[in-house]
Amino acid sequence: MPSACNVPSRTIFTGDNLDILRGINSECVDLIYLDPPFNSNQSYAAPLDSEARGAEFDDVWTLDDMKEEWIDEIEFRRPSLFHLINGAKLAHGESMAGYLTFMSVRLLEMHRVLKPDGSIYLHCDDTAVHYLKGVMDALFGAGNYVNNIVWKRATSHNDPRRFGRILDHLLFYARGANRRWNADAVTIPKDAAELLKAYPSQDARGQYRSSDLTGPRHSAKRGSPSTMPWQGYDIYAMNRVWSVPKTGKYAEYIARNFIPGYQDIAGIHDRLDALDNAGLIHHPQKGRWPGLKRYADADTGNPAQNLFLYPAGFTNFSTKGGEYTGWKTQKPVALLQQIIKASSNPGDLVLDPFCGCATACIAAEQLGRNWIGIDILPEAAAVLTDRARRELQIPMNGDDEHPWADWQPLVLNAPPRRNDLTLLSPANPQSDKELLYASQNRKCIGCEYELPLHVLTIDHITPRSRGGPDAIGNLQLMCHTCNAIKGNRSMEYLREQLHRRGILSM
Ligand SMILES: C[S@@+](CC[C@H](N)C(=O)[O-])C[C@H]1O[C@@H](n2cnc3c(N)ncnc32)[C@H](O)[C@@H]1O
Ligand SMILES: [Zn+2]
Repeated sequence: MPSACNVPSRTIFTGDNLDILRGINSECVDLIYLDPPFNSNQSYAAPLDSEARGAEFDDVWTLDDMKEEWIDEIEFRRPSLFHLINGAKLAHGESMAGYLTFMSVRLLEMHRVLKPDGSIYLHCDDTAVHYLKGVMDALFGAGNYVNNIVWKRATSHNDPRRFGRILDHLLFYARGANRRWNADAVTIPKDAAELLKAYPSQDARGQYRSSDLTGPRHSAKRGSPSTMPWQGYDIYAMNRVWSVPKTGKYAEYIARNFIPGYQDIAGIHDRLDALDNAGLIHHPQKGRWPGLKRYADADTGNPAQNLFLYPAGFTNFSTKGGEYTGWKTQKPVALLQQIIKASSNPGDLVLDPFCGCATACIAAEQLGRNWIGIDILPEAAAVLTDRARRELQIPMNGDDEHPWADWQPLVLNAPPRRNDLTLLSPANPQSDKELLYASQNRKCIGCEYELPLHVLTIDHITPRSRGGPDAIGNLQLMCHTCNAIKGNRSMEYLREQLHRRGILSM
């Protein structure tokens, strides 16, 4: 059941996104775009004179990133993912396993917060895309894979002794079967050469092509209106019948631009007359039948493809354009707009948990979507506010007349508190305890001894100190001994200790 979001729109969090994601209600986000560090073995720092000065992050991973509790959590919540990471460790090495662990604990939360009809785009490059595809398959289900979008991020790159690397990848997954898809919102306008090819004829109004006004005769009997001659064209004799559009986009275009009320003209021959009077019929050479003039002006563009060249194919921002903030890994607003338009509707909630200089937030705001951004660097909030004032044209000193006058992002650094869980009710904690007791088959979750309820104590799976809620989904029952051994450590640690003491058999 999708819940209301416990975070207001236009919030930017500065902090580790793991803690913040853990505090967001389940199934309340419509679209997630994430552009995490790529495991590129680089350090990114913004130039000192830029808006983003001070912003710096390392993209270097080691086994230290494989925090034991994260591995535990992955093993517990998604065993297939756990095995996949171990496989990556063998196939590629420890750094990749560390990176995938870092990503997986966070992606587990993103999967949880996404609505059943939501979508997610994971932006990465070829350093890890093939391993991340596996992670996403394990997490979202291979059947929910939609696209691998390739974005040409530069025109050329000098890479010694190999082909220049100029591509990024965006792994696009749905959370379930009913994801939103707005094909019409993301068509790519034809360029001049394509238009000339598609619309080769010309009249005073402009470029057009002649499209068929007839269809195959099949079993139509002579005598019905669609078989009768018009202006001497006996199309029935040519094995055709009239087919004159009355509905659809082009009929609307005709009504709007040339023939008011066109779609209400019932008779086929009346429609033909009206079209002819308006100069919309293309009369052919002898022996052929007439066609409808379709103007280039009404062209709806080409369907968007999974190779992104336009409108987003650039990274070398012109400094004059006002878009570049100095954030080293900044993405173009046009790229984000394309994604947001395709996979969300106005009013939907967009989340970017690695938002950097908040490109996704700006694009969402421009398109009338709600948004939440998260970045570990405190500079992100200031950069967002500055660029928003510029790119969304918000006056610096509150001008009430201005449509953006009350625009103000909410900047937070503490994780939110979920309010979508049945909290352990102080009035009757016993009932929750009984529920857990039944679900654990009356056993301690650590030593697996069957014990009476009153000697079991409540343990938080994600410790409260790390934002774990007092909610039934985050609780388990343990005997006093196990609880004392475990403390704030992982289940893995507890099990190891119990093995060592001979309490648990191997
Ligand atoms: C590739 S950049 C994102 C750039 C962004 N798409 C834009 O257009 O500006 C990755 C960002 O992730 C942030 N980051 C790294 N680890 C993080 C974490 N654990 N939680 C939140 N943000 C993190 C970095 O500070 C960096 O800004
Ligand atoms: Zn025990």
